[in-house]
Amino acid sequence: MQADFAVILAAGRGTRMKSKLAKVLHPLLGRPMVAHVAASARRAGLRPVLVVNHQEDAVREAFAGDDVLFARQEQTRGTGDAVASALTALPDSGTVVVMAGDAPLLRAETIAALRAAHGDAAVTVLTAQLDDGAHYGRLERDAQGNPWRIVEAKEASTAQLAIGEINTGLYCFDIAWLRAALPTLKPHAHKDEIYLTDVVELAAAEGKCRVQVHSEFSEVQGINDRYELALAREVLQARVSEQHARNGVDFEQISSVVIEPDVVIAADVQIGPGVILRGRTTIAEGVRIGSHCELIDATVGEDVDIHSFSTLESATVERGGSIGPYARLRPDALVCEGARVGNFVEMKKSRLGPGAKANHLTYLGDATVGAGANIGAGTITCNYDGFSKSQTEIGAGAFVGSNSALVAPVTVGEGAIVGAGSVITKNVPSDAVSIARGTQSNIDGAAERFRSRKGKS
Ligand code: UD1
Ligand code: CA
Repeated sequence: MQADFAVILAAGRGTRMKSKLAKVLHPLLGRPMVAHVAASARRAGLRPVLVVNHQEDAVREAFAGDDVLFARQEQTRGTGDAVASALTALPDSGTVVVMAGDAPLLRAETIAALRAAHGDAAVTVLTAQLDDGAHYGRLERDAQGNPWRIVEAKEASTAQLAIGEINTGLYCFDIAWLRAALPTLKPHAHKDEIYLTDVVELAAAEGKCRVQVHSEFSEVQGINDRYELALAREVLQARVSEQHARNGVDFEQISSVVIEPDVVIAADVQIGPGVILRGRTTIAEGVRIGSHCELIDATVGEDVDIHSFSTLESATVERGGSIGPYARLRPDALVCEGARVGNFVEMKKSRLGPGAKANHLTYLGDATVGAGANIGAGTITCNYDGFSKSQTEIGAGAFVGSNSALVAPVTVGEGAIVGAGSVITKNVPSDAVSIARGTQSNIDGAAERFRSRKGKS
């Protein structure tokens, strides 16, 4: 059987965001807000139909390759008009869920519960009870407590504004009923918009409106400005972090971390304050990540230590490796088993072999370093001549003295030693010692003579 649909309203500009970016594209935990809405719909077994207009191409792009349908709203003339634009994508009968593209915290379970409650009603609307209904539409009930109509905050009287029951913007509709009702709606003078909320009064008059009251406001809140966006990020992050903590991840300060939803973390991982884990990062058992590290699409093996203030992007660290503090691993950095990368070391497209060390102030770019090699403080692989990149190869067990420049393309053979301060431009054979620096000359007593000439002895 074909899945039912969820129409997701995502055509509006979102003026209150004060942003060039369409509201529904603002990111929450690495995904556009509207992608969270679509994901919940899909988890509830529904196929998303996105109503688009503002920055339509970018919204479509955000779903490239996903199984969603699009419906174009020619002019953004309100939520009623937006749903009308999606009708052609829907079957003639059955039920449809309508969701706002700006309410990304909604859980699939809540959508499923609303569908279950809908039964043979024409409209079922999800509400929540607030102390202050703020900018939300208010659900008015009649003397018997039955739903009557929804009034928008900006058009409400003082008495109506005092109502605490608000419209969350999640609905279930009988499609055939909705097809007949939408064309009868009149635009509101306030903004010349057609309000979807007006169908509630029509359904209520026929005794076909149901209401479900939801108890957790944080789940149904809409995002209309940057402050609400910031609050929503906190709610979503708290959910993701809680899940990891319950799966055995140890957080020193759980409220300070950012962990995007696709990140995979094994049990017994320790995470310090201010850590940011993004994209497809995966972290194996026993890893310790110190404060303020940022990992993007990184792969971290068992028992690795990542010390504070390190950043890793598309980099891999194998079991038992040690990184930082203040290390920077750029794309295609590979730190093999037990290898160490210390403070102020940068790696890019480079492999540091098993047990090798680059502990201080080093740049390794387009380089391979063999097992057990030691890269001294301040070593630079000079991989770029202003036009193209070249490779540096350092053999297993080699020792590169401090402050050496290895001018690529160049090879330092296995077991070779490079004297400190060398500028290596030619290959170094295995087990050779290579020194490439000015010869030191000591002139006895010259300093003393210099001072007396200057009258300072
Ligand atoms: C709407 C409801 C309000 C409810 C609130 C819940 C109406 C008239 N009001 O108000 O009762 O409390 O949601 O969050 O429905 N959109 C379109 N096309 C349009 C207009 C809007 O696709 O022409 C989309 C927007 O992109 C947004 C969603 O519909 O994702 C809701 O629109 P918004 O303007 O935010 O409605 P609210 O004023 O929040
Ligand atoms: Ca809204």
